[in-house]
Amino acid sequence: MNKNLSVDHLLGIKDLNREDLEIIFKTADSFKEVINRPIKKVPSLRDITIANLFFENSTRTKLSFELAEKRLSADVVNFSASGSSVKKGETLIDTVNNILAMKVDMVVMRHSTPGAALFLSKHVDARIINAGDGTHEHPTQALLDAYSIRERLGSVEGKKVVIVGDILHSRVALSNIFCLRKLGAEVMVCGPTTLIPRYISELGVKVEHNLKKALEWCDVANMLRIQLERQDIRYFPTLREYTMQFGLDMKLLKSLNKEIVVMHPGPINRGVEITSEVADSHQSVILDQVENGVAVRMAVIYLLASKIRS
Ligand code: CP
Repeated sequence: MNKNLSVDHLLGIKDLNREDLEIIFKTADSFKEVINRPIKKVPSLRDITIANLFFENSTRTKLSFELAEKRLSADVVNFSASGSSVKKGETLIDTVNNILAMKVDMVVMRHSTPGAALFLSKHVDARIINAGDGTHEHPTQALLDAYSIRERLGSVEGKKVVIVGDILHSRVALSNIFCLRKLGAEVMVCGPTTLIPRYISELGVKVEHNLKKALEWCDVANMLRIQLERQDIRYFPTLREYTMQFGLDMKLLKSLNKEIVVMHPGPINRGVEITSEVADSHQSVILDQVENGVAVRMAVIYLLASKIRS
């Protein structure tokens, strides 16, 4: 197997091929072993400096990237838009070029604008990793989600995955659809009609508006957060009504004639899309997803850094 990725940046899953995904997962397998050792570090990236630029809020992704970089022994600088000169009107390119003038090799960026990572990759001389660009893509989330399915079920190929909730505003949904389809899974989306984009079936996914039917079909249910901060109009009457139709509780989970795997990218709205009992049950892999995020991000950073040196 060719050990190099076909891309110079990780802007979206759309740009990757299946071999890229397999290389990332195999590399992540080695790093998962590293992060479970007493000394959770390797010296691989001692010559690399990485800037984490977060223009939007984050807990998991930001911490996970920083830990991944430190476990690889990279030098790390962190930047948040709040408290920076962005507030004084500095442009994205000027901000990044000033950071790069301090000899940074790689930029991990979260931004509220779809396409921001692509834009940056065309204007600055550094490897760019998209840590979420608005409603567009969140590639490392999809990679860690697929990696977690592979870990729990042995493979992704042939598995049936339903993504439930706010598909319209979800970069996690779009990246997951690309990733799971490339890996040979069957994908369904489920949610209120108003939160399912009309073009979605062109991406090769099934559409279902009845949660029980969707759960009866699937092996894995990925329960998305309702993103009220991205909803400029009302897409459903009240959160309570959303939960009654699309929330997953123990009664519904136990009514199925099989054990499905339950996922959630976080942050969870406990009691809205998923109850605490389900989130904390043995069928949930939510914390495995978080653990796997570090290994998968180590793999992505390591593989892109090898391309800087080659
Ligand atoms: N899953 C995810 O992207 O979480 P954060 O917004 O906390 O980074």
